[in-house]
Amino acid sequence: MSSHPGPRVAVVVVAAGSGTRLGAEVPKAFVELDGRTLLERSLHAVRGMRAAAEPVLVVPADRVDEAAALALRVFGHPAAVVAGGATRQQSVAAGLAAIGDDVDVVLVHDAARALTPSALFDAVVDAVVETGHGVIPGLAVSDTIKRVAGDGSVHETVDRSTLAAVQTPQGFPREQLLAAYAAATTDETDDAGLVAAAGHPVTVVPGATEAFKITTPWDLQRAHDLLAPSGTPRIGLGTDTHAFDPAAELWLAGLHWPDEAGLSGHSDGDAASHAIVDALLGAAGLGDIGGVFGTGDPRFAGAHGEVFLAETRRLVEEAGFRIGNVSVQVIGQRPKFAPRRVEAEQLLSGILGAPVSLSATTTDGLGFTGRGEGIAVFATALLFPR
Ligand code: CTP
Ligand code: MG
Repeated sequence: MSSHPGPRVAVVVVAAGSGTRLGAEVPKAFVELDGRTLLERSLHAVRGMRAAAEPVLVVPADRVDEAAALALRVFGHPAAVVAGGATRQQSVAAGLAAIGDDVDVVLVHDAARALTPSALFDAVVDAVVETGHGVIPGLAVSDTIKRVAGDGSVHETVDRSTLAAVQTPQGFPREQLLAAYAAATTDETDDAGLVAAAGHPVTVVPGATEAFKITTPWDLQRAHDLLAPSGTPRIGLGTDTHAFDPAAELWLAGLHWPDEAGLSGHSDGDAASHAIVDALLGAAGLGDIGGVFGTGDPRFAGAHGEVFLAETRRLVEEAGFRIGNVSVQVIGQRPKFAPRRVEAEQLLSGILGAPVSLSATTTDGLGFTGRGEGIAVFATALLFPR
């Protein structure tokens, strides 16, 4: 991922609120939605971004360890996790104190917007880079809006053509956001409010309906309904075969395998990742790996499997699907998969935001795999329309 130049991005995910309006027994970000907490879902959205971003989690003080373990599982490496404050703004400030000096663009995201697509994060980053200032996703307001007095009497209709309902992730050049927080004298409910108060322009880009904030029990039910499979699921099959090349390093199922013969082939030869990509693209009707990731695209020359997988997930979601699960079988004499099977499953599941199961088998010495000449991989994927 670091192989192509781009802005360094940090994403502060604020999850330290108590969720009074939701009224659950645990803080809102730790409430489960179809088997995964809102925070976990938000982290998967960050993990699915086109280019890797540095995550910073802001959580209740007594949940820092739990959140650190979650982040390690999702990202495959440790993330900064800090305790939040009494207000959202204080929580964001705590998160900003933890981002690295080398970061160019900071996104701030509410964990409560758990169904936000990764593509919205990418769009905000792109717009910040393009404009050089703050960018927030927003949707047109469709209801008629009235200004109403405390006693219920209607004063006027507000011109809704000038209104936008804004969401997160909100993105800013790091210096502008830090300066705005340093100069803050009021408590705002979003970050753009402070940045605008500090005199910087902020523009709205199209938001996503799925990025709504889960605030009340009704919102949680709506999120659950959206996740429910609707329409016919779609299945895909992918295979890949590569010959061993003792001069190459072995990358397989997203993992580096030291002391094993590598595989020849385009990019890093990770036949498992490539088979998964074909299964996913096939299920979505998006073609195949050769057509989507042209050998001429410098972003993918020498890239590791996770680059292809993250981009495939983005394309599949953009095409209106969510990944149900992926099953992969590796056929070959080496490497011995069993000791690292769980590690590979966790890594791949994190990248795809869906369960990935792996198995490995030999062929009783038969065929090219049995003779140890190479590896064959079969993958199936299930997609749900959404
Ligand atoms: N948040 C935070 N720290 C706070 C308050 C809010 O990190 N002190 C985060 C929440 O965890 C949430 C986001 O800011 O992801 C948006 O806030 P909101 O939806 O208002 O969440 P809560 O404050 O938890 O809910 P409520 O206002 O109903 O208590
Ligand atoms: Mg709140």
